[in-house]
Amino acid sequence: MSDLDRVRQRLAASQRLAVLTGAGISAESGVPTFRGPGGLWCNHRAEDLATPEAFHRDPKLVWEWYNMRRTALVGVQPNPGHHALAVMQEKLPGFNLVTQNVDGLHAVAGNSDPVEIHGNIWKVRCTACHAITGDHRVPIPTPPSCAACGALLRPHIVWFGESLDSDVLERAFAAFEYCDVALIVGTSGVVQPAASLADLARRRGAFVVEVNLEPTPATGVVDVALHGRAGEILPQLLPG
Ligand code: OAD
Repeated sequence: MSDLDRVRQRLAASQRLAVLTGAGISAESGVPTFRGPGGLWCNHRAEDLATPEAFHRDPKLVWEWYNMRRTALVGVQPNPGHHALAVMQEKLPGFNLVTQNVDGLHAVAGNSDPVEIHGNIWKVRCTACHAITGDHRVPIPTPPSCAACGALLRPHIVWFGESLDSDVLERAFAAFEYCDVALIVGTSGVVQPAASLADLARRRGAFVVEVNLEPTPATGVVDVALHGRAGEILPQLLPG
């Protein structure tokens, strides 16, 4: 039996499916990844742009970077990989989607309630009253201020050195602790805690599948590694 057939068979029998996605799933929509050739962290220093210290030092510079990323996302559409995950949510029981992506494309594709562990680029958070609001302005006037209290707004994104929201983290860990099949899609698996989810699922007895262009640190712990483009592989995994 081919690896693809094994995965299809496991998915068809699954009662609780957990999916983790990273930047690779949006690559075919034209969104740059973080690492590898052309990745955002190849041309920019994370410590200058994606840390609380960087924002404290120069909020305008940080907002300009997020404005650049928001501008690049205008008109970007989900690809067949995103759509396949939306169909899985519709057809398979116990579906949970955890994403490291902040682009919001899973929701646009139709996934309801994805667990966005690193936040969402289309949301802003007040640095004083902590109110979180949706904000689709492109560009956002920099630096923007809170409509409720007038204080400085920041992107609703988890930066390096910051903790993840505890409720969000709990949902992510629960999804992988109690799943029977785990799909790890388009992530380099080097950023914690997301990087530990494949191993957690495996230790709890789940059948773990990686979908990635290339081997990653997770490849050694998964049951099946499918190497190729997520937009081509995921549609082939859909139940008939
Ligand atoms: P990375 O840029 O680290 O990794 C992207 C992964 O996607 C790589 O393993 C690629 O091989 C794979 N890939 C690229 N194109 C693909 C395709 N078409 N199909 C399948 N796989 C493909 O991105 P992440 O792992 O998501 O955090 O990075 C994790 C976190 O690091 C991000 O959420 C971000 C970053 O710093 C924050 O901003 C907090």
